[in-house]
Amino acid sequence: MKLDLIAGARPNFMKIGPIIKAIDLYNENHKDQKMQYRLIHTGQHYDQNMSKSFFEELDIPDPHVNLGAGSGTQATQTASIMTGYEKAISEWMPDICIVVGDVNSTMACSIVAKKAGIKVAHVEGGIRSGDWTMPEEINRIVTDSITDYFFTTSEEANRNLVKEGHDKSQIFYVGNTMIDSLLSHLNKLQKPDFFDEKLHGDNYLVVTLHRPSNVDDPEKLSLILNVITEAAGDIQILFPVHPRTRKIMEALPNRYNNMILVEPLPYLEFIFVVSNSIGVITDSGGITEETSVMNIPCITLRTTTERPETIRLGTNELVPDITNAKPLIHQMISGNWKQAQLIPFWEGKAAERIVEILSRLNISTNKN
Ligand code: UD1
Repeated sequence: MKLDLIAGARPNFMKIGPIIKAIDLYNENHKDQKMQYRLIHTGQHYDQNMSKSFFEELDIPDPHVNLGAGSGTQATQTASIMTGYEKAISEWMPDICIVVGDVNSTMACSIVAKKAGIKVAHVEGGIRSGDWTMPEEINRIVTDSITDYFFTTSEEANRNLVKEGHDKSQIFYVGNTMIDSLLSHLNKLQKPDFFDEKLHGDNYLVVTLHRPSNVDDPEKLSLILNVITEAAGDIQILFPVHPRTRKIMEALPNRYNNMILVEPLPYLEFIFVVSNSIGVITDSGGITEETSVMNIPCITLRTTTERPETIRLGTNELVPDITNAKPLIHQMISGNWKQAQLIPFWEGKAAERIVEILSRLNISTNKN
């Protein structure tokens, strides 16, 4: 069986790493039935902070192919990934294309593969926010509409897929490969160089913001930062700033005494600072999964989530309107927060399950 594994943007790398390790392990134990694979990096994220450091720390091998798509508008970036992947497919003709998550690379490569008659498997398929203003929601729906095999992270995702007319035989509830990465690296976390110098002990909040709906409008971003810094009072706020957000922040006049701005952190440092914090305020989806597993309080500045299990069983709370966030931030600081429960199958074996299922699939392709 020939597999293409697609990774493009930062949150993809933690999801694909464990799958590669599980394939390598499978191949060691099945020398006569090896799975051949190529790791395709689309180049959606490309610099040291957003890409290379993740490959190094998660011990992901160098990609076999780098499409070098880079940044651009939604259409420019998607088109560039599609053109590059179409050429890469013609050079190797895989049997199955495995995409993860919900970024532009996920959608772009699934469309190209499907049109070339190649089966598509979607890791983290089926999650839905219902918010069509998010590019990720469109990516999820388009990808899932042409996916052959769904590897899901939650009961909710399974239900969404069945409701949308997919057959249960296509859906495999395997758990969460991002959590596989988290659990296998918890004993290797690294304290950032600035930690002792800039932070006064463990009494700090972590903030991350990168959603267009929160950061692209300077007034909205300014309001969010004002509310958080006022609510935090004497508590320090560590804010690793996403490149998208940095561009807007540079134009803001606001300066905050209790906010420490740093570059996006490498994986092992980011998990270190989160795991030692009072709590996290974010608009990321993946971070709500990680905080739930580490039992760290989390506030999500969004109107919806595609990961309701992080609210039902985890530590996540949604704040749809930032002007109402103060009482919840005070509650977070006071330490009065719900305790996380175990989310089924989020125990570090999702990638192994995926590879075991792939090994049993009888794939008949329609390559053209
Ligand atoms: C993308 C994903 C989002 C994911 C996020 C994680 C889509 C639609 N969005 O959003 O789902 O949560 O990644 O970070 O796929 N840039 C750099 N260096 C890089 C990459 C990007 O400086 O290595 C800058 C560029 O100026 C670029 C901007 O960041 O224009 C945004 O990057 P892009 O990939 O377009 O979207 P993200 O906001 O990162």
